[in-house]
Amino acid sequence: MITPKWLENAVFYNVYPQSFYDFNGDGIGDLNGITEKLNYIKDMGFTAIWLNPFYESSYRDGGYDVTDFYKVGKRYGTNADFKRLCTIAHQKGIKVCVDLVAGHTSLECEWFKKSCCTEKNEYTNRYVWTDNWLNIYNGECIGGYAQRNGAYMKNFFYCQPALNYGFANIDEPSWQLPPEHPDCRETKRELINIMEYWITLGADGFRVDLAASLIKNDYDGSVIIKFWQEIRTIFDEKYPECVLISEWSHPSRAIAAGFHIDFLIHAVFPAYTSLFRAEDERNIPRIFFGNSFFDTRGNGNIETFLNDYLDEYEKTKDRGFISIPTGNHDLARISYGRTNKELEAIFAFIMTMPGIPFVYYGDEIGMEYIPNMPSKEGGFTRTGSRTPMQWKKGKNAGFSDGEKELLYLPVNENGVNVEEQLGDENSLLNKVKKLIALRKTTQALSASGAIEFLNRKDGGYPLVYKRSSNDEEYLICINPSNEDKKFEMKLCADVIMQNGNVKLSEEGIMLGAVSYAILKLK
Ligand code: NOJ
Repeated sequence: MITPKWLENAVFYNVYPQSFYDFNGDGIGDLNGITEKLNYIKDMGFTAIWLNPFYESSYRDGGYDVTDFYKVGKRYGTNADFKRLCTIAHQKGIKVCVDLVAGHTSLECEWFKKSCCTEKNEYTNRYVWTDNWLNIYNGECIGGYAQRNGAYMKNFFYCQPALNYGFANIDEPSWQLPPEHPDCRETKRELINIMEYWITLGADGFRVDLAASLIKNDYDGSVIIKFWQEIRTIFDEKYPECVLISEWSHPSRAIAAGFHIDFLIHAVFPAYTSLFRAEDERNIPRIFFGNSFFDTRGNGNIETFLNDYLDEYEKTKDRGFISIPTGNHDLARISYGRTNKELEAIFAFIMTMPGIPFVYYGDEIGMEYIPNMPSKEGGFTRTGSRTPMQWKKGKNAGFSDGEKELLYLPVNENGVNVEEQLGDENSLLNKVKKLIALRKTTQALSASGAIEFLNRKDGGYPLVYKRSSNDEEYLICINPSNEDKKFEMKLCADVIMQNGNVKLSEEGIMLGAVSYAILKLK
Protein backbone atom coordinates (compact mmCIF):
# COMPACT_ATOMS: atom_id res chain seq x y z
CA MET A 1 0.00 0.00 0.00
CA ILE A 2 1.24 3.45 -0.88
CA THR A 3 0.89 6.39 1.49
CA PRO A 4 1.41 9.76 -0.19
CA LYS A 5 4.31 11.58 1.44
CA TRP A 6 2.42 14.85 1.61
CA LEU A 7 0.19 13.44 4.33
CA GLU A 8 3.04 13.38 6.84
CA ASN A 9 2.88 17.15 7.34
CA ALA A 10 -0.67 17.76 6.20
CA VAL A 11 -2.97 20.13 8.03
CA PHE A 12 -6.44 20.31 6.45
CA TYR A 13 -8.85 23.20 6.32
CA ASN A 14 -12.48 22.19 5.98
CA VAL A 15 -14.43 24.67 3.87
CA TYR A 16 -18.22 24.76 3.72
CA PRO A 17 -18.49 26.31 0.24
CA GLN A 18 -21.80 28.14 0.59
CA SER A 19 -20.57 29.98 3.69
CA PHE A 20 -16.94 30.77 2.98
CA TYR A 21 -16.69 33.69 0.57
CA ASP A 22 -19.18 35.00 -1.96
CA PHE A 23 -17.30 36.17 -5.03
CA ASN A 24 -20.20 37.10 -7.29
CA GLY A 25 -22.33 38.92 -4.73
CA ASP A 26 -25.40 36.69 -4.92
CA GLY A 27 -25.27 36.02 -1.18
CA ILE A 28 -23.98 32.43 -1.43
CA GLY A 29 -20.36 31.37 -1.13
CA ASP A 30 -18.88 29.98 -4.33
CA LEU A 31 -15.83 28.24 -5.79
CA ASN A 32 -14.33 31.48 -7.11
CA GLY A 33 -14.68 32.81 -3.58
CA ILE A 34 -12.58 29.94 -2.28
CA THR A 35 -9.98 30.55 -4.99
CA GLU A 36 -9.90 34.20 -3.94
CA LYS A 37 -9.10 33.18 -0.35
CA LEU A 38 -6.38 30.64 -1.11
CA ASN A 39 -3.70 33.09 -0.02
CA TYR A 40 -5.30 33.28 3.41
CA ILE A 41 -5.45 29.48 3.60
CA LYS A 42 -1.82 29.20 2.57
CA ASP A 43 -0.73 31.96 4.89
CA MET A 44 -2.33 30.14 7.84
CA GLY A 45 -0.16 27.15 6.97
CA PHE A 46 -2.88 24.78 5.79
CA THR A 47 -1.61 22.33 3.21
CA ALA A 48 -4.90 20.89 2.02
CA ILE A 49 -8.59 21.65 1.91
CA TRP A 50 -11.66 19.46 2.14
CA LEU A 51 -14.66 20.99 0.45
CA ASN A 52 -18.15 19.96 1.50
CA PRO A 53 -20.40 19.10 -1.49
CA PHE A 54 -20.68 21.69 -4.25
CA TYR A 55 -22.59 19.53 -6.76
CA GLU A 56 -26.00 20.08 -8.32
CA SER A 57 -28.42 19.27 -5.56
CA SER A 58 -31.96 19.70 -4.34
CA TYR A 59 -30.46 21.16 -1.14
CA ARG A 60 -32.63 19.35 1.36
CA ASP A 61 -29.53 18.26 3.23
CA GLY A 62 -27.08 21.08 2.56
CA GLY A 63 -25.93 19.51 -0.74
CA TYR A 64 -25.64 15.92 0.55
CA ASP A 65 -28.61 15.14 -1.69
CA VAL A 66 -26.92 15.22 -5.07
CA THR A 67 -28.85 15.44 -8.34
CA ASP A 68 -25.85 15.42 -10.69
CA PHE A 69 -22.52 14.01 -9.51
CA TYR A 70 -20.67 15.33 -12.53
CA LYS A 71 -21.68 18.96 -12.27
CA VAL A 72 -20.84 21.86 -9.99
CA GLY A 73 -24.09 23.32 -8.65
CA LYS A 74 -25.05 26.58 -10.36
CA ARG A 75 -24.90 28.51 -7.12
CA TYR A 76 -21.24 27.56 -6.68
CA GLY A 77 -20.08 28.23 -10.25
CA THR A 78 -19.00 25.88 -13.02
CA ASN A 79 -16.80 22.84 -13.53
CA ALA A 80 -14.27 25.20 -15.11
CA ASP A 81 -14.22 27.18 -11.84
CA PHE A 82 -13.39 23.98 -9.98
CA LYS A 83 -10.57 23.23 -12.37
CA ARG A 84 -9.21 26.74 -11.91
CA LEU A 85 -9.47 26.44 -8.12
CA CYS A 86 -7.39 23.25 -8.25
CA THR A 87 -4.81 24.73 -10.62
CA ILE A 88 -4.25 27.79 -8.45
CA ALA A 89 -4.31 25.77 -5.22
CA HIS A 90 -1.67 23.43 -6.64
CA GLN A 91 0.52 26.37 -7.63
CA LYS A 92 0.40 27.40 -3.98
CA GLY A 93 1.15 23.88 -2.74
CA ILE A 94 -2.38 23.23 -1.48
CA LYS A 95 -4.19 19.93 -2.16
CA VAL A 96 -7.92 19.91 -2.85
CA CYS A 97 -10.11 17.08 -1.57
CA VAL A 98 -13.79 16.92 -2.37
CA ASP A 99 -16.79 15.28 -0.76
CA LEU A 100 -18.01 12.03 -2.25
CA VAL A 101 -21.61 11.27 -1.36
CA ALA A 102 -21.26 7.60 -2.16
CA GLY A 103 -24.28 6.06 -0.46
CA HIS A 104 -27.26 7.93 -1.85
CA THR A 105 -28.60 10.55 -4.22
CA SER A 106 -31.38 13.09 -4.18
CA LEU A 107 -34.94 12.02 -4.98
CA GLU A 108 -34.65 14.42 -7.91
CA CYS A 109 -31.61 12.72 -9.42
CA GLU A 110 -32.40 11.47 -12.96
CA TRP A 111 -31.17 8.00 -11.97
CA PHE A 112 -33.74 7.79 -9.22
CA LYS A 113 -36.55 9.10 -11.40
CA LYS A 114 -35.81 6.31 -13.87
CA SER A 115 -35.55 3.79 -11.04
CA CYS A 116 -39.08 4.74 -9.94
CA CYS A 117 -40.57 3.56 -13.27
CA THR A 118 -42.52 0.33 -13.62
CA GLU A 119 -40.77 -0.55 -16.89
CA LYS A 120 -37.39 -2.21 -16.41
CA ASN A 121 -34.46 0.01 -17.34
CA GLU A 122 -30.78 0.54 -16.64
CA TYR A 123 -31.60 2.14 -13.25
CA THR A 124 -34.19 -0.35 -11.97
CA ASN A 125 -31.72 -1.87 -9.51
CA ARG A 126 -29.51 1.20 -9.06
CA TYR A 127 -31.32 1.79 -5.75
CA VAL A 128 -32.49 -0.56 -3.05
CA TRP A 129 -36.20 -1.37 -3.52
CA THR A 130 -38.29 -3.88 -1.60
CA ASP A 131 -40.57 -6.31 -3.40
CA ASN A 132 -43.85 -4.51 -2.68
CA TRP A 133 -45.14 -1.14 -1.57
CA LEU A 134 -46.17 -2.40 1.87
CA ASN A 135 -42.79 -3.87 2.74
CA ILE A 136 -40.95 -1.09 4.53
CA TYR A 137 -38.33 -3.48 5.94
CA ASN A 138 -38.04 -2.58 9.62
CA GLY A 139 -38.97 1.00 8.86
CA GLU A 140 -35.87 1.56 6.73
CA CYS A 141 -37.81 1.93 3.49
CA ILE A 142 -40.33 4.46 2.23
CA GLY A 143 -43.46 3.21 0.48
CA GLY A 144 -45.95 5.07 -1.67
CA TYR A 145 -43.51 7.36 -3.45
CA ALA A 146 -42.98 5.67 -6.77
CA GLN A 147 -45.01 4.26 -9.61
CA ARG A 148 -43.25 0.92 -9.23
CA ASN A 149 -44.49 -1.59 -6.70
CA GLY A 150 -41.90 -1.32 -3.94
CA ALA A 151 -40.55 0.85 -1.17
CA TYR A 152 -37.14 2.50 -1.52
CA MET A 153 -34.55 2.30 1.21
CA LYS A 154 -33.36 5.61 2.64
CA ASN A 155 -29.73 6.08 3.56
CA PHE A 156 -30.15 9.07 5.87
CA PHE A 157 -33.09 11.48 5.40
CA TYR A 158 -36.19 10.34 3.51
CA CYS A 159 -34.96 12.43 0.54
CA GLN A 160 -31.75 10.37 0.19
CA PRO A 161 -32.56 7.03 -1.44
CA ALA A 162 -29.82 4.43 -0.91
CA LEU A 163 -27.77 3.40 -3.91
CA ASN A 164 -27.66 -0.34 -4.36
CA TYR A 165 -24.23 -1.84 -3.69
CA GLY A 166 -25.79 -5.06 -2.41
CA PHE A 167 -26.47 -6.94 0.82
CA ALA A 168 -23.78 -8.87 2.70
CA ASN A 169 -26.39 -11.04 4.41
CA ILE A 170 -29.62 -11.69 2.61
CA ASP A 171 -32.73 -12.19 4.70
CA GLU A 172 -35.35 -11.37 2.04
CA PRO A 173 -34.07 -13.01 -1.15
CA SER A 174 -36.92 -11.78 -3.35
CA TRP A 175 -35.44 -8.26 -3.55
CA GLN A 176 -32.02 -8.13 -1.87
CA LEU A 177 -29.07 -8.56 -4.24
CA PRO A 178 -25.55 -9.72 -3.34
CA PRO A 179 -22.68 -7.24 -3.88
CA GLU A 180 -21.38 -9.32 -6.80
CA HIS A 181 -24.64 -8.99 -8.72
CA PRO A 182 -23.91 -7.22 -12.03
CA ASP A 183 -26.33 -4.38 -11.18
CA CYS A 184 -24.53 -3.72 -7.86
CA ARG A 185 -21.17 -3.88 -9.63
CA GLU A 186 -22.54 -1.31 -12.04
CA THR A 187 -23.34 1.07 -9.15
CA LYS A 188 -19.75 0.69 -8.00
CA ARG A 189 -18.40 1.24 -11.51
CA GLU A 190 -20.30 4.52 -11.66
CA LEU A 191 -18.84 5.56 -8.30
CA ILE A 192 -15.32 4.96 -9.58
CA ASN A 193 -16.19 6.89 -12.70
CA ILE A 194 -17.28 9.87 -10.59
CA MET A 195 -14.01 9.78 -8.66
CA GLU A 196 -11.94 9.59 -11.82
CA TYR A 197 -13.87 12.48 -13.30
CA TRP A 198 -13.01 14.84 -10.44
CA ILE A 199 -9.42 13.62 -10.33
CA THR A 200 -9.14 14.56 -13.99
CA LEU A 201 -10.29 18.08 -13.12
CA GLY A 202 -7.69 18.32 -10.37
CA ALA A 203 -9.05 16.74 -7.16
CA ASP A 204 -6.42 15.22 -4.86
CA GLY A 205 -8.74 13.02 -2.86
CA PHE A 206 -12.17 12.36 -1.43
CA ARG A 207 -13.83 12.59 1.93
CA VAL A 208 -16.33 9.78 1.67
CA ASP A 209 -19.68 10.48 3.25
CA LEU A 210 -21.07 7.64 5.42
CA ALA A 211 -18.36 5.38 4.04
CA ALA A 212 -19.52 2.30 5.96
CA SER A 213 -23.13 2.56 4.84
CA LEU A 214 -22.82 1.25 1.31
CA ILE A 215 -23.20 -2.49 1.87
CA LYS A 216 -26.35 -3.44 3.72
CA ASN A 217 -26.65 -6.05 6.49
CA ASP A 218 -22.87 -6.20 6.77
CA TYR A 219 -22.80 -6.99 10.46
CA ASP A 220 -19.06 -7.43 10.95
CA GLY A 221 -18.03 -4.92 8.29
CA SER A 222 -16.07 -7.51 6.33
CA VAL A 223 -17.80 -6.93 2.98
CA ILE A 224 -17.61 -3.14 3.03
CA ILE A 225 -13.92 -3.47 3.93
CA LYS A 226 -13.37 -5.54 0.76
CA PHE A 227 -15.43 -3.08 -1.24
CA TRP A 228 -13.13 -0.16 -0.43
CA GLN A 229 -9.96 -2.24 -0.64
CA GLU A 230 -10.70 -2.74 -4.32
CA ILE A 231 -10.91 1.03 -4.78
CA ARG A 232 -7.70 1.60 -2.81
CA THR A 233 -5.93 -0.81 -5.17
CA ILE A 234 -7.02 1.36 -8.08
CA PHE A 235 -5.75 4.44 -6.24
CA ASP A 236 -2.38 2.85 -5.48
CA GLU A 237 -1.96 1.87 -9.11
CA LYS A 238 -3.33 4.91 -10.90
CA TYR A 239 -3.48 7.78 -8.40
CA PRO A 240 -0.85 7.14 -5.73
CA GLU A 241 -0.80 10.81 -4.67
CA CYS A 242 -4.56 10.94 -4.08
CA VAL A 243 -6.15 10.19 -0.72
CA LEU A 244 -9.24 8.52 0.62
CA ILE A 245 -10.70 10.00 3.80
CA SER A 246 -13.61 8.33 5.50
CA GLU A 247 -16.51 9.37 7.59
CA TRP A 248 -16.56 6.00 9.32
CA SER A 249 -15.43 6.81 12.84
CA HIS A 250 -14.00 3.37 13.29
CA PRO A 251 -10.36 3.75 12.22
CA SER A 252 -9.36 0.11 12.60
CA ARG A 253 -12.03 -0.86 10.07
CA ALA A 254 -11.69 2.17 7.81
CA ILE A 255 -7.92 1.91 7.52
CA ALA A 256 -8.11 -1.84 6.96
CA ALA A 257 -10.52 -0.95 4.17
CA GLY A 258 -7.83 1.17 2.53
CA PHE A 259 -8.71 4.65 3.70
CA HIS A 260 -5.70 6.83 4.37
CA ILE A 261 -7.50 8.84 7.05
CA ASP A 262 -10.53 8.22 9.23
CA PHE A 263 -12.22 10.77 11.45
CA LEU A 264 -12.74 10.01 15.08
CA ILE A 265 -16.03 11.80 15.52
CA HIS A 266 -19.48 10.42 16.06
CA ALA A 267 -21.13 9.30 19.20
CA VAL A 268 -20.68 5.63 18.32
CA PHE A 269 -17.23 6.18 19.72
CA PRO A 270 -17.40 8.11 22.97
CA ALA A 271 -13.75 8.99 22.34
CA TYR A 272 -14.30 12.25 20.51
CA THR A 273 -17.40 13.33 22.34
CA SER A 274 -15.72 12.79 25.69
CA LEU A 275 -13.00 15.25 24.77
CA PHE A 276 -15.01 18.26 23.70
CA ARG A 277 -18.69 17.69 23.32
CA ALA A 278 -20.14 15.65 26.15
CA GLU A 279 -22.53 18.52 26.88
CA ASP A 280 -23.31 19.63 23.33
CA GLU A 281 -26.53 20.97 21.91
CA ARG A 282 -27.95 17.55 21.23
CA ASN A 283 -28.20 16.96 24.95
CA ILE A 284 -26.55 13.59 24.90
CA PRO A 285 -27.19 12.32 28.43
CA ARG A 286 -24.19 12.89 30.66
CA ILE A 287 -24.70 9.57 32.35
CA PHE A 288 -23.38 8.00 29.19
CA PHE A 289 -20.48 10.24 28.32
CA GLY A 290 -19.70 11.93 31.59
CA ASN A 291 -18.19 15.38 31.23
CA SER A 292 -15.92 16.71 28.53
CA PHE A 293 -12.25 16.44 29.37
CA PHE A 294 -11.61 19.88 27.86
CA ASP A 295 -13.80 21.74 30.31
CA THR A 296 -12.80 24.24 32.97
CA ARG A 297 -14.66 22.26 35.64
CA GLY A 298 -12.00 19.61 35.22
CA ASN A 299 -14.35 16.74 35.91
CA GLY A 300 -13.92 14.80 32.70
CA ASN A 301 -11.83 11.68 32.47
CA ILE A 302 -9.18 11.11 29.82
CA GLU A 303 -9.68 7.35 30.15
CA THR A 304 -12.94 7.57 28.21
CA PHE A 305 -10.92 8.89 25.30
CA LEU A 306 -7.87 6.71 25.75
CA ASN A 307 -9.84 3.48 26.05
CA ASP A 308 -11.01 3.85 22.47
CA TYR A 309 -8.21 5.91 21.04
CA LEU A 310 -5.22 3.83 22.06
CA ASP A 311 -6.80 0.64 20.84
CA GLU A 312 -7.62 2.21 17.46
CA TYR A 313 -4.24 3.90 17.29
CA GLU A 314 -2.30 0.69 17.92
CA LYS A 315 -4.28 -1.14 15.25
CA THR A 316 -3.72 1.54 12.62
CA LYS A 317 -0.53 3.42 13.33
CA ASP A 318 1.67 2.08 10.57
CA ARG A 319 -1.00 1.91 7.93
CA GLY A 320 -3.09 5.07 8.08
CA PHE A 321 -4.06 8.07 10.13
CA ILE A 322 -6.68 9.02 12.66
CA SER A 323 -7.99 12.56 12.48
CA ILE A 324 -9.31 14.48 15.46
CA PRO A 325 -11.00 17.46 13.81
CA THR A 326 -11.81 20.75 15.53
CA GLY A 327 -15.34 20.28 14.29
CA ASN A 328 -17.36 20.05 11.11
CA HIS A 329 -20.67 21.10 9.61
CA ASP A 330 -22.51 18.46 11.67
CA LEU A 331 -21.27 19.40 15.14
CA ALA A 332 -21.78 22.38 17.42
CA ARG A 333 -18.75 24.63 17.00
CA ILE A 334 -15.97 23.88 19.42
CA SER A 335 -16.10 27.51 20.64
CA TYR A 336 -19.55 26.90 22.13
CA GLY A 337 -19.34 27.84 25.81
CA ARG A 338 -15.57 28.36 25.68
CA THR A 339 -13.16 31.29 25.87
CA ASN A 340 -10.35 31.79 23.35
CA LYS A 341 -7.86 30.74 26.00
CA GLU A 342 -9.64 27.41 26.36
CA LEU A 343 -9.73 27.09 22.58
CA GLU A 344 -6.02 27.70 22.33
CA ALA A 345 -5.39 24.81 24.73
CA ILE A 346 -7.59 22.61 22.52
CA PHE A 347 -5.68 23.67 19.41
CA ALA A 348 -2.42 22.87 21.22
CA PHE A 349 -3.80 19.36 21.73
CA ILE A 350 -5.13 18.87 18.19
CA MET A 351 -1.95 20.22 16.58
CA THR A 352 0.33 17.97 18.60
CA MET A 353 -1.52 14.67 18.24
CA PRO A 354 -0.50 11.96 15.77
CA GLY A 355 -2.58 11.64 12.60
CA ILE A 356 -3.95 14.50 10.59
CA PRO A 357 -5.56 17.64 12.00
CA PHE A 358 -8.61 19.14 10.30
CA VAL A 359 -9.74 22.67 11.15
CA TYR A 360 -13.32 23.59 10.36
CA TYR A 361 -13.50 27.05 8.72
CA GLY A 362 -13.84 29.78 11.31
CA ASP A 363 -12.67 27.66 14.23
CA GLU A 364 -9.28 29.33 13.93
CA ILE A 365 -10.90 32.61 15.01
CA GLY A 366 -13.20 30.99 17.54
CA MET A 367 -16.27 31.66 15.40
CA GLU A 368 -19.47 31.35 17.36
CA TYR A 369 -22.02 28.56 17.30
CA ILE A 370 -25.48 30.11 17.01
CA PRO A 371 -27.97 28.00 18.95
CA ASN A 372 -31.66 27.81 18.00
CA MET A 373 -31.25 29.06 14.45
CA PRO A 374 -34.15 28.19 12.15
CA SER A 375 -33.14 25.12 10.21
CA LYS A 376 -31.71 25.75 6.73
CA GLU A 377 -31.60 23.04 4.07
CA GLY A 378 -32.01 20.19 6.54
CA GLY A 379 -29.41 21.56 8.91
CA PHE A 380 -31.56 21.61 12.09
CA THR A 381 -29.27 22.05 15.12
CA ARG A 382 -26.29 21.95 12.72
CA THR A 383 -27.36 25.23 11.08
CA GLY A 384 -25.71 27.29 13.82
CA SER A 385 -22.30 25.91 12.78
CA ARG A 386 -22.79 26.80 9.11
CA THR A 387 -23.05 30.59 9.20
CA PRO A 388 -20.91 32.74 6.86
CA MET A 389 -17.23 33.20 7.58
CA GLN A 390 -16.46 36.43 9.41
CA TRP A 391 -13.70 38.15 7.48
CA LYS A 392 -13.90 41.68 8.86
CA LYS A 393 -16.11 44.23 10.61
CA GLY A 394 -18.81 45.92 8.58
CA LYS A 395 -21.14 44.89 5.80
CA ASN A 396 -21.90 41.17 5.94
CA ALA A 397 -18.64 40.74 7.87
CA GLY A 398 -16.86 40.84 4.50
CA PHE A 399 -18.48 37.59 3.41
CA SER A 400 -20.52 39.06 0.57
CA ASP A 401 -21.29 42.32 -1.21
CA GLY A 402 -24.84 41.16 -1.73
CA GLU A 403 -27.97 42.39 0.01
CA LYS A 404 -28.52 41.04 3.50
CA GLU A 405 -31.74 39.28 2.50
CA LEU A 406 -29.82 37.28 -0.09
CA LEU A 407 -27.29 35.80 2.32
CA TYR A 408 -27.20 32.01 2.63
CA LEU A 409 -27.53 32.40 6.40
CA PRO A 410 -27.42 35.51 8.59
CA VAL A 411 -23.86 36.60 9.33
CA ASN A 412 -22.59 37.85 12.66
CA GLU A 413 -21.25 41.32 11.76
CA ASN A 414 -20.12 42.07 15.29
CA GLY A 415 -18.45 38.81 16.09
CA VAL A 416 -14.84 37.74 15.97
CA ASN A 417 -13.23 38.26 12.58
CA VAL A 418 -10.11 37.46 10.59
CA GLU A 419 -8.94 41.03 9.92
CA GLU A 420 -8.85 42.01 13.59
CA GLN A 421 -7.17 38.81 14.65
CA LEU A 422 -4.53 39.02 11.95
CA GLY A 423 -3.46 42.34 13.46
CA ASP A 424 -3.22 41.03 17.01
CA GLU A 425 -0.17 38.96 17.80
CA ASN A 426 -1.93 37.22 20.68
CA SER A 427 -5.14 36.43 18.87
CA LEU A 428 -6.38 32.87 18.58
CA LEU A 429 -5.74 33.02 14.83
CA ASN A 430 -2.08 33.88 15.30
CA LYS A 431 -1.64 31.21 17.97
CA VAL A 432 -3.21 28.61 15.69
CA LYS A 433 -0.91 29.74 12.92
CA LYS A 434 2.11 29.28 15.19
CA LEU A 435 0.97 25.85 16.30
CA ILE A 436 0.50 24.78 12.68
CA ALA A 437 3.97 26.07 11.80
CA LEU A 438 5.49 24.24 14.77
CA ARG A 439 3.81 21.00 13.78
CA LYS A 440 4.96 21.27 10.19
CA THR A 441 8.57 21.92 11.11
CA THR A 442 8.86 19.32 13.87
CA GLN A 443 9.22 15.71 12.88
CA ALA A 444 8.18 14.37 16.29
CA LEU A 445 4.89 16.24 15.97
CA SER A 446 4.12 15.05 12.45
CA ALA A 447 1.48 12.47 11.54
CA SER A 448 3.61 9.40 12.29
CA GLY A 449 5.61 10.59 15.30
CA ALA A 450 5.11 8.18 18.22
CA ILE A 451 2.98 9.05 21.26
CA GLU A 452 3.03 8.02 24.90
CA PHE A 453 0.57 9.25 27.52
CA LEU A 454 2.27 9.84 30.87
CA ASN A 455 -0.48 10.86 33.26
CA ARG A 456 -3.54 8.69 33.59
CA LYS A 457 -4.25 9.34 37.26
CA ASP A 458 -7.05 11.55 38.65
CA GLY A 459 -8.94 11.81 35.39
CA GLY A 460 -5.72 12.60 33.56
CA TYR A 461 -5.37 16.27 34.63
CA PRO A 462 -3.00 17.67 33.53
CA LEU A 463 -2.81 15.90 30.21
CA VAL A 464 0.83 14.97 29.59
CA TYR A 465 2.17 13.11 26.59
CA LYS A 466 5.40 12.61 24.80
CA ARG A 467 5.82 12.73 21.02
CA SER A 468 8.96 11.38 19.46
CA SER A 469 10.65 10.59 16.19
CA ASN A 470 14.24 9.41 15.74
CA ASP A 471 16.28 11.42 18.28
CA GLU A 472 13.70 14.13 18.77
CA GLU A 473 11.41 14.23 21.81
CA TYR A 474 8.69 16.68 22.79
CA LEU A 475 6.54 16.87 25.88
CA ILE A 476 3.06 18.36 25.73
CA CYS A 477 1.35 19.38 28.96
CA ILE A 478 -2.18 20.77 28.94
CA ASN A 479 -4.40 21.83 31.80
CA PRO A 480 -7.93 22.55 30.56
CA SER A 481 -9.27 22.99 34.11
CA ASN A 482 -9.68 26.05 36.28
CA GLU A 483 -7.41 24.72 39.03
CA ASP A 484 -3.64 24.47 39.23
CA LYS A 485 -2.41 21.02 38.23
CA LYS A 486 1.00 19.49 38.84
CA PHE A 487 2.90 16.74 37.12
CA GLU A 488 5.99 15.29 38.74
CA MET A 489 8.84 14.48 36.44
CA LYS A 490 12.55 15.24 36.26
CA LEU A 491 12.67 17.81 33.50
CA CYS A 492 15.45 19.29 31.50
CA ALA A 493 13.67 21.04 28.70
CA ASP A 494 13.15 24.16 26.61
CA VAL A 495 9.69 25.67 26.46
CA ILE A 496 8.84 26.04 22.80
CA MET A 497 5.33 27.43 23.18
CA GLN A 498 3.01 28.10 26.08
CA ASN A 499 -0.01 29.98 27.27
CA GLY A 500 -1.14 30.75 30.81
CA ASN A 501 0.79 30.27 34.00
CA VAL A 502 3.37 27.51 33.59
CA LYS A 503 6.23 26.83 36.03
CA LEU A 504 9.03 24.33 35.59
CA SER A 505 11.01 23.21 38.62
CA GLU A 506 13.26 20.36 39.74
CA GLU A 507 10.21 18.32 40.70
CA GLY A 508 8.24 18.81 37.53
CA ILE A 509 5.75 21.13 35.95
CA MET A 510 2.97 23.23 37.46
CA LEU A 511 0.19 24.35 35.13
CA GLY A 512 -2.13 27.13 36.21
CA ALA A 513 -5.77 27.43 35.22
CA VAL A 514 -6.31 26.77 31.50
CA SER A 515 -2.73 26.61 30.34
CA TYR A 516 -0.41 24.53 28.24
CA ALA A 517 3.23 24.14 27.41
CA ILE A 518 5.06 22.43 24.59
CA LEU A 519 8.56 21.42 25.69
CA LYS A 520 11.48 20.14 23.71
CA LEU A 521 13.13 17.34 25.67
CA LYS A 522 15.63 16.29 23.03
C1 NOJ B 1 -22.83 12.98 6.84
C2 NOJ B 1 -22.71 14.41 6.46
O1 NOJ B 1 -21.61 14.98 7.09
C3 NOJ B 1 -24.01 15.06 6.86
O2 NOJ B 1 -23.96 16.45 6.76
C4 NOJ B 1 -25.12 14.48 6.01
O3 NOJ B 1 -26.35 15.00 6.47
C5 NOJ B 1 -25.14 12.96 6.10
N1 NOJ B 1 -23.85 12.37 6.05
C6 NOJ B 1 -25.95 12.38 4.97
O4 NOJ B 1 -25.29 12.55 3.75
